[in-house]
Amino acid sequence: MTDLSAIDRYLESNRQSHLDQLFELLRIASVSADSSKTAEMADAANWVEAKLASGGLKTQQIRGDGPSLIYAESEPLPGKPVVLVYGHYDVQPADPLNLWDSPPFEPVVKNGNIYARGSTDDKGQMLTHVQSVLAWKACGQKLPLQVKFLIEGQEENGSEVLEAKLPEIAERIACDVIVISDSSQYAKGQPAITYGLRGIAYFELRVHGPKADLHSGSFGGAVANPALALARILTELKTPDGKIQLPGFYDSVVDLEASERTMWAGLQFSDDAFAKQLGVEALAGEAGYTSLERRWARPTFDVHGLLGGYQGEGGKTIIPSWAAAKISFRLVPNQDPKQVGEQLRAFLAAHTPPGVRLELIDLHGGKGVVVNPNSKYMQGAMKAVEEGFAAKPVLIREGGSIPIVAQMVDATKADVLLLGWGLDDDGAHSPNEKFCLEDYYRGIRASSRLWHHLAC
Ligand code: BES
Ligand code: MN
Ligand code: MN
Repeated sequence: MTDLSAIDRYLESNRQSHLDQLFELLRIASVSADSSKTAEMADAANWVEAKLASGGLKTQQIRGDGPSLIYAESEPLPGKPVVLVYGHYDVQPADPLNLWDSPPFEPVVKNGNIYARGSTDDKGQMLTHVQSVLAWKACGQKLPLQVKFLIEGQEENGSEVLEAKLPEIAERIACDVIVISDSSQYAKGQPAITYGLRGIAYFELRVHGPKADLHSGSFGGAVANPALALARILTELKTPDGKIQLPGFYDSVVDLEASERTMWAGLQFSDDAFAKQLGVEALAGEAGYTSLERRWARPTFDVHGLLGGYQGEGGKTIIPSWAAAKISFRLVPNQDPKQVGEQLRAFLAAHTPPGVRLELIDLHGGKGVVVNPNSKYMQGAMKAVEEGFAAKPVLIREGGSIPIVAQMVDATKADVLLLGWGLDDDGAHSPNEKFCLEDYYRGIRASSRLWHHLAC
């Protein structure tokens, strides 16, 4: 007989140790986008593997051309579900460093929050599942199902190793349900289960002009300016009321169900409070949709960075030789990032201003996900989250992307449970990223209940 109260007591008396362990992992600057951080990537991979091995799981480091995948499994239990926990040990770059109140890789607890790069995305959330499996074992309780872990080191940077290894490891990661904690609750005190994520198609667009920067007085007016050409193209890609101008872009978009719109309209949400939280005068987006609908279920186009021309102090009168932009489209279910890439190439060919040459570099992408909210594992997950967070979860979708998930679903045909323990204002990818300390503990508790309820 499983003694859940023994696990509860164990979790209660190991709070400090669970925090110390998260701090250890947070001190490793495993920035996957930074090619100078290969040693840190290996340190983080080894740390995760050792932690899983310490709980008696059979572990394996799957090496490829980049940071290793960490795979682990508990003993098989025939007749019981197999759960695969996916997460990532890599983090986003921490810069600009001067905007952090404390150094990004020196975690601290302040006002009930853990501050560090990766605290919420995804080291803190991912570790809740590791700790809960270790807790079952430490209490001498036999896990009621088989848990497998697949923790990668490139989620923030294209998941190349996992994508390449997927066919090879498909059998090993065979499972009934994939559990991922790499998203958010609906609000403080209101846990959620996420049944949809957006996809993404990410590119760098370069505009090439004259062979060198030119004096803008001597040459301006007689030669195309790449920065201005780039600006023109970017504004042509989306109308002011939020419609993307790629021909065919909306053809595969699945419209929101009336029932979803009704369900989301019932969630407490204030545009004014949201604008205030973000520090903007007014919100903006696609006409005809609410803010939640725009963020969770409608595609969009954004510019993430602009490069080119003079960036230093004071003025410098040049026509830059080149300009570039980092851009992406967030996609909704049924849209295919490859097809969007083709649509973009066709659009650019038809919209290249005279006198410049365009170059489009495909960065990474992935399809969106929708999860069946009525799957047989959803009920168990609802109970586990309620027991961990002391409140009934609501069903939401989210706008972020975990690009590899759709491919993992293809490979395993498994259901997915997106159980986010973070909060919207955690500052993921931003300075002063945080994770609520209590949510770390609640997440561990919810996870410990999840194995029990998924097995029933
Ligand atoms: N954990 C996020 C995804 C996420 C964010 C899910 C917010 C739900 C809500 C993940 O680490 C992430 O940041 N993904 C990137 C993918 C990109 C780098 C290809 C994203 O969404 O921008
Ligand atoms: Mn993440
Ligand atoms: Mn992220």
